[in-house]
Amino acid sequence: MDNLDQLINEARTAFDAVADAAALEQAKARFLGKNGLITEQLKALGKLAPEEKRERGAAVNRAKTAIEQALEARREGLRQVALAAQLAAERLDVTLPGRGSALGGLHPVSRTLERIEQLFHSIGFVVADGPEIETDWHNFTALNVPPNHPARSMQDTFFLEGEKDVLLRTHTSPVQIRSLLAHVARYRDADPMPDLRLIAPGRVYRVDSDATHSPMFHQVEGLWVGEDVSFADLKGVVADFLRKFFETEQLQVRFRPSFFPFTEPSAEIDVAFMGGALEGRWLEVAGCGMVHPNVLRSGGIDPERYTGFAFGFGPDRLTMLRYGVDDLRLFFEGDLRFLAQFR
Ligand code: PHE
Repeated sequence: MDNLDQLINEARTAFDAVADAAALEQAKARFLGKNGLITEQLKALGKLAPEEKRERGAAVNRAKTAIEQALEARREGLRQVALAAQLAAERLDVTLPGRGSALGGLHPVSRTLERIEQLFHSIGFVVADGPEIETDWHNFTALNVPPNHPARSMQDTFFLEGEKDVLLRTHTSPVQIRSLLAHVARYRDADPMPDLRLIAPGRVYRVDSDATHSPMFHQVEGLWVGEDVSFADLKGVVADFLRKFFETEQLQVRFRPSFFPFTEPSAEIDVAFMGGALEGRWLEVAGCGMVHPNVLRSGGIDPERYTGFAFGFGPDRLTMLRYGVDDLRLFFEGDLRFLAQFR
């Protein structure tokens, strides 16, 4: 084997032996660098006679090309190895199950409100609302609770600083007034005026806080005003609603005489379950009564011609009873361990 073939073999062996690209460049210098073995051969050509020179020159150049090809082949080999290593390191297991995202759900009280809306909607009640920041007039005076009336102390009120006539509504009853006024305005020319049937769910506020009272809680107001609306209608609508809400006919409903300034006569509504953990205990769920003539007048209605009933449910209380929750505050603390149970 002539010394050029040997040089090519040596280069191939050297290139094959390197572990990475840096080592390969060093190996290259040994053969193709400024003082490399091939360069030495080229320099040596100068000492040859012209005849020999041409032949030897061509041979050295072939050897140089062969070594360069071996170098390039090895470079490509190393690139492939590096790529394979990177792919292995960054490997993604697409068959792993996903982490999933937590599924939200409706708040239990929202579920109750939706349910109440559905049930009343099915008997022709519309859903009305009003502002949570109310005027003293809508919240009290128009509801037959004039300034200094002792009944105001039944509802310990949050007033707004520096605003003597503005407060956080203490109940949803002001929606009665707003809705009556709007209804009368809309049907100014109708005779008789069509019935107004509404429920008004929403937040209300009182200075009160313990296991069964929260400074913010919910009410659902109900109102039906028309030409022949009676206490019998009130009893039927409410008892029917409660049995549907609790999904049982095994429910006693009682109207216990009471007092509200905005209804006359007035009653508290109690329920008792027949069977179950709460069997036999009377539980208060609402206040109600026939709308007081003064309230109808505040709403622009002639009490000699029209009558109506109203009720105010505590949906938080209904939710506690339906799900067997014994501390009202759990609903408003935002603890997901509690809330997630209702998804
Ligand atoms: N607004 C009353 C309360 O909050 C409840 C009620 C509403 C009573 C409608 C009678 C009629 O206590």
